[in-house]
Amino acid sequence: MSIAAVTELPAESTDAAATLAAARAFFALPELLELATPDRLREIEAEIGATGTYWHTAEELLIGAKLAWRNHARCAGRYNWRSLKLMDLRDRRTAAEIAEGCFEHLRVSTNGGRLRSVITVFDQERPGRVGPRIHNPQLVRYAGYRQADGTVQGDPLHVTLTDFARRQGWSGTGGPFDVLPLLISTDGGPVQRFDVPGDAVLEIELTHPEFEWFAELGLRWHANPAISNLVLDVGGVRYPAAPFSGWYVSSEIGARNLSDEARYNMLPAIATGMGLSTKRNASLWKDRALIELNRAVIHSYDRAGVYIVDHHTAAAQFITHVDREEAAGRVVMTDWSWINPPLSASTTPTFHRSFATPDFTVRPNFFKPTEPPAYDRRGEETGGCPASGLSVAAACPAH
Ligand code: ARG
Repeated sequence: MSIAAVTELPAESTDAAATLAAARAFFALPELLELATPDRLREIEAEIGATGTYWHTAEELLIGAKLAWRNHARCAGRYNWRSLKLMDLRDRRTAAEIAEGCFEHLRVSTNGGRLRSVITVFDQERPGRVGPRIHNPQLVRYAGYRQADGTVQGDPLHVTLTDFARRQGWSGTGGPFDVLPLLISTDGGPVQRFDVPGDAVLEIELTHPEFEWFAELGLRWHANPAISNLVLDVGGVRYPAAPFSGWYVSSEIGARNLSDEARYNMLPAIATGMGLSTKRNASLWKDRALIELNRAVIHSYDRAGVYIVDHHTAAAQFITHVDREEAAGRVVMTDWSWINPPLSASTTPTFHRSFATPDFTVRPNFFKPTEPPAYDRRGEETGGCPASGLSVAAACPAH
């Protein structure tokens, strides 16, 4: 194959050489067999020679995105990797066009509550150009307002992002569930702010199947978990703005977002509603409140006709996925601590299995960007990397 002819690139083209090597590795994958024709490889080689990068066909990009999903060691939902749909919006170049594309992503993937797995890919990085960036961790996130007494109204996870949005001129209602605006920049330029239209965000008010008082807590959550701050890396091309989403596992909401002490911290209020004393740990009041909160999440999404999966079903699906992959001769690298549910882990099959250790150099994959988001120049929001112990700003190989 003539692609070998350009192995010896001039010294100043190190990036181009790395891109070419990564492109070759990608097109050598069995999933690319039919697309990796000698003509296509010659074309890519020439394009990299001329521009330092190359353009994927939509078909290549979709396969790359599916493989990035399948390779992502922290995703517990990989059972569904084949169902991914691509919205190829690489021609949207301005921040306003990208924001509009993100709203389309939400409408299409939320699909009125019948959620579907979608990735929307915007423009790629090029030599000397960092490309577009969505600074929000997800397309739908709730504001957190620091109060004078030090407490937070809303989601404490997003205090820094909320402060930043306010400095950009945004003002929310100050309530507990204000949807933050999207913060988008292109090629390292200034951040621009876009309010997310109401019709792009499906939310579910939480009620409990038995406790009437539960509705009065005024809890709600959004239907669509659309991760927007990871870089999609396919065949030596990096897509820094590539939001993707599937659907929630109920425990993400019921056993983390609404229950963590550092998030909405709702367990004391729920225990009180249940008439439990919160004095003694050993009464297991937290555990009892946690179960009822999770029942409320499942009940409310079901009642609203919004798809959600419980942690038992999700864990069983994950094991099916691992078994299927192993039968196909593939290794499923998995971060055990990420794919086990945050409640009742030992009642699910994932708890009782060990998995192949993640190798963060495997491509295609999703990565944290090297630069922290604009609202958090010190990289605090994302915290340190649990795998390496390094701060995200430092050179953790996983990010
Ligand atoms: N855990 C995150 C959240 O609660 C969402 C992560 C992605 N989850 C998913 N089911 N696709 O918002």
